[in-house]
Amino acid sequence: MMAFLPSWVCVLVGCFSASLAGASSLSDMEPPLWKESPGQFSDYKKENEMYVINPWVYTERLGMYKILLNETARYFAKFAPENEQNILWGLPLQHGWQYKTGRLADPTGRTNCGYESGDELCISVDSWWADLNYFLSSLPFLAAVDSGITEISADQVVLLPPLKDQTKFCYSVSSCGSSFRETMNKWNAFYQLLQSPLSNFDDLLKSLWVAHTSTLKDTIKSFEDRYDYYSKTEASFERNWVLAVRHLAAVLFPTTLITSYKFQKGLPPRMLASNDTAPFINDFTTFQNVVLLILNMLGNVV
Ligand SMILES: *[C@@H]1O[C@H](CO)[C@@H](O)[C@H](O)[C@H]1NC(C)=O
Ligand SMILES: *[C@@H]1O[C@H](CO)[C@@H](O)[C@H](O)[C@H]1NC(C)=O
Repeated sequence: MMAFLPSWVCVLVGCFSASLAGASSLSDMEPPLWKESPGQFSDYKKENEMYVINPWVYTERLGMYKILLNETARYFAKFAPENEQNILWGLPLQHGWQYKTGRLADPTGRTNCGYESGDELCISVDSWWADLNYFLSSLPFLAAVDSGITEISADQVVLLPPLKDQTKFCYSVSSCGSSFRETMNKWNAFYQLLQSPLSNFDDLLKSLWVAHTSTLKDTIKSFEDRYDYYSKTEASFERNWVLAVRHLAAVLFPTTLITSYKFQKGLPPRMLASNDTAPFINDFTTFQNVVLLILNMLGNVV
């Protein structure tokens, strides 16, 4: 399996040399509604001296990333201007792709949560993508607060629960710290390294991927029941995506703004239907068909 690894990464890197079609500036690469999302704690509701964030609304969840990117910008300034080399960009870009492609909507179709014709900004607790992203947004965000990166203290922010399955999630620095201690420690270690004047880019990347893979490992089993809500092709794409992320972690894929943006051009631009067969999907680009084909092969090898 590991022998297979270099070949697919090479294909992807080959595709990266494609030009930045459609993006003329760094701000064109930002996720949808980035500008409209909260960018500081005072943009959120405040109750009893606590900031209250509803991570089941796309812009509010994106706002956690926006604060995170803003507060960490100073540590990446030594690598490039305009925060372009901030390796935390991969997370909000991935979330923006999930939103844009309908993956945060209710996959059961029982509610209008997340649909253009309904409550478009709603994030469904039944969405597999939304559930895993919950931890890839809340844990890095709360660990940043815990590490003293932000202006507020650890007991000053709380996240709201979803409508169901509340026990599968955690909502504050203290509750996430007790439910996911090791993973929170890994995110904290990343922020400690970030604050060290001796930190270099590769060490930061390594530390970020350690925290990222640990987050997935802790949480993926809780949401296996969600696969049933999807077409067979979308469900296997989800399983294969988890394997792909492990490979990206293994090669220390640099999740900076431009590189993440280019990579995402290869991801399916909509949910997969049961009759979608890569590399023959008409409305996908060649790059998207090839990436999906490689992910299918990856799944078959395991
Ligand atoms: C961070 O946010 C503040 C307030 O919104 C803004 O003035 C500042 O330019 C931002 N910094 C960066 C690096 O984006
Ligand atoms: C796949 O199925 C959808 C309906 O589920 C249909 O609209 C579409 O045309 C089909 N595509 C192909 C290539 O058969």
